[in-house]
Amino acid sequence: MSETNYSEPHHPRPQWKSRTGFILAAIGSAVGLGNIWRFSYLCYKNGGGAFLIPYTIALLVVGIPLMILELGVGHKMRGSAPMSFAKVHPKWEWLGWWAVICAMYGIMLYYSVVIAWCVSYMFFSFNLSWGNDPNAFFYNEFLQLSQGPLDIGDMRTPILTALLSVWAMSWGIVFFGVQKGVERANKIFMPLLLILMIVLVGWSVSLEGAAQGIAVYLTPDFSKLGNLQIWIDAFSQIFFTLSLAFGIMIVYASYLPKKVDIVKDACIICFSNSAFSIFAGFSVFGTLGYMAHATQQPIDEVVTKSIGLAFVTYPQAISLIPTFSKVFGVVFFSSLVIAGLSSAISLIEAFSSAIVDKFHFKRSSVVSVVCLTGFLGSMIFSSKAGLYWVDIVDQFVTHYGLVIIALLECVAVGWVFQSQKLRKHIDSAGNTKLSPIWDSCIRFIIPAVLIILLLNDLKAEIAAPYEGYSRVATLMIGRDWLIFALIASLLIFLQPWKKELKTE
Ligand code: PHE
Repeated sequence: MSETNYSEPHHPRPQWKSRTGFILAAIGSAVGLGNIWRFSYLCYKNGGGAFLIPYTIALLVVGIPLMILELGVGHKMRGSAPMSFAKVHPKWEWLGWWAVICAMYGIMLYYSVVIAWCVSYMFFSFNLSWGNDPNAFFYNEFLQLSQGPLDIGDMRTPILTALLSVWAMSWGIVFFGVQKGVERANKIFMPLLLILMIVLVGWSVSLEGAAQGIAVYLTPDFSKLGNLQIWIDAFSQIFFTLSLAFGIMIVYASYLPKKVDIVKDACIICFSNSAFSIFAGFSVFGTLGYMAHATQQPIDEVVTKSIGLAFVTYPQAISLIPTFSKVFGVVFFSSLVIAGLSSAISLIEAFSSAIVDKFHFKRSSVVSVVCLTGFLGSMIFSSKAGLYWVDIVDQFVTHYGLVIIALLECVAVGWVFQSQKLRKHIDSAGNTKLSPIWDSCIRFIIPAVLIILLLNDLKAEIAAPYEGYSRVATLMIGRDWLIFALIASLLIFLQPWKKELKTE
């Protein structure tokens, strides 16, 4: 395949300034809202410490191999996801577009709204605005939740304002490019997030009753390991938490220099991300233990599902903390905002860089237009039906979208391109050699796992629409979202590449 078709614009491809900068940016994308509460909740639901067994297996069997694949593809092809897949095989370019469109106009649209809620709650913490009934405050006063997903109602101005600030911040970072924007922001965000987390964990575990909460978090209940659902939860959490399948790690790797130890870097990124989740769990469960102690309730009554945990249970716990409770609230919500923003910029980068690669428009203009359209698109999630939409789009994009894209990614690289060719490239770029077992993971094991995940989701969806929403709502909002993204991908795929000479 002639490479000139997919050549770069005249200016050379941006590069990370340092290896640390790249690793921090990749960790920044991986560590997000999902690490702080989704992981803890899954752990609790699935047998506490016992969940770490399927979680670790998922990390080793699918997480790290797929991370190596994405970093390897991006590094070899030196392009965003569409460009990389076009170089794998010209007919596969659309898959890259589907991935980055799902990232930008799927995940980012609702992810930005959840960050906006966190921004609002950061300010609410200053005077504990949620009062005595955080549940009523969140649903009735803050969201003013409507009757159902199709009852959209009007926009919530306070949410819209916070949302505007989230988009403005993300734009302000990505606009300045890879080194001066994404890399620099992550170099500040990641250490800051770590410090905030250390403060939170230290504080939470010293609260009275925290030990009980942590015991619930870590006491393994091995009897649950026989349950298929716990394995499914572990595998889907690994895909989501590592930001895999949306073209992000591909584009981040395309900014690397020629010599790079992909295997080692992939391991550092994956292990740091999981270590962060496990560490954050101590804070979540320490606080829940304290709350159970303070209200004399059993701990299983104070744990709720992810969104409720952050915006209902946590505010309740914050109000109970005897000293500096407001500071605790501000620290907790600002850590969510920072974790969220560093993931948000990776989602914007993945799409913007794909457009620049194909059409050679000016990067800063592309980022501005992308952020503006992103903000407009995310407005629907700040309506009174916003929470339902977040829930449905999240379910469809991160389950069906993610699983199908990851599966096709394995087929494209493992079978069409041939995984051993990529393995040779990875081996020659760095010092750590990749075992041929990796090929089996890409060609057989990961596709098998993904097919099981997909069938299981479909079975549940056919039996009853997700979370009891009406069938019309889940199909119109969830399925059609994916179909529109696919149609858009095909339309962009059909446009010709702007041909220019390679400058390398
Ligand atoms: N990894 C992020 C988290 O755990 C979410 C994310 C998914 C970000 C996919 C980018 C792409 O919250």
